[in-house]
Amino acid sequence: MIITFEGGEGVGKTTQAALLKAFLESQNRPVVMLREPGGSVLSEKIRSLVLHESMDTLTELLLILSGRRENIATIIEPALAGGSVVVIDRFIDSTLVYQGIAGGIGIERVRDIMQATRTWLIPDLTFVLDLDPALAATRYTPDDRFEFRDPDYHRRLREGFVSVATEPRHRLIDTSAPIQAVFETVRQTVAARL
Ligand code: TMP
Repeated sequence: MIITFEGGEGVGKTTQAALLKAFLESQNRPVVMLREPGGSVLSEKIRSLVLHESMDTLTELLLILSGRRENIATIIEPALAGGSVVVIDRFIDSTLVYQGIAGGIGIERVRDIMQATRTWLIPDLTFVLDLDPALAATRYTPDDRFEFRDPDYHRRLREGFVSVATEPRHRLIDTSAPIQAVFETVRQTVAARL
């Protein structure tokens, strides 16, 4: 089973993913957790390029997908084969929104490229965390070239995530509530699926 956390900057994905990992482990479920971009040793090297070097948007997409391909082959597929729950902090929906919508490549084109490169792996459950970008901005100190972009870019990201969160696997959650209240929704949803 693959569970992903998605959303704009500062919405609380990493915190919720960590809480979910701890909960699953407390239930004696084997868990593998990773983040994207990043994950495998090679993909973490790609992450620092993507986050800190300026580049063409298509180059950015291809680098992100290279890291994802490596993660699928070396971490995700073996973990699923071994019966682990795979928890991922950002995955295919971030690519649709950041590169497809905000980056201007186009959502259909990004999906086609993912399918062609075997990086289109559909999660079983996706939490899309939603928060007013002005409030979210108070929760982090900008540290990479995405976080430094202007408020309008962050508004487009938020709208983009809401617009892609339309499949049965998606759960849109307002994260203006306290962390534990948000996690209770996550926990109940996952428990019902296991
Ligand atoms: P994070 O620090 O929230 O983990 O995210 C790192 C950045 O990577 C975030 O600003 C969004 C970006 N990103 C993309 O642009 N496309 C993608 O497909 C993924 C997974 C992340």
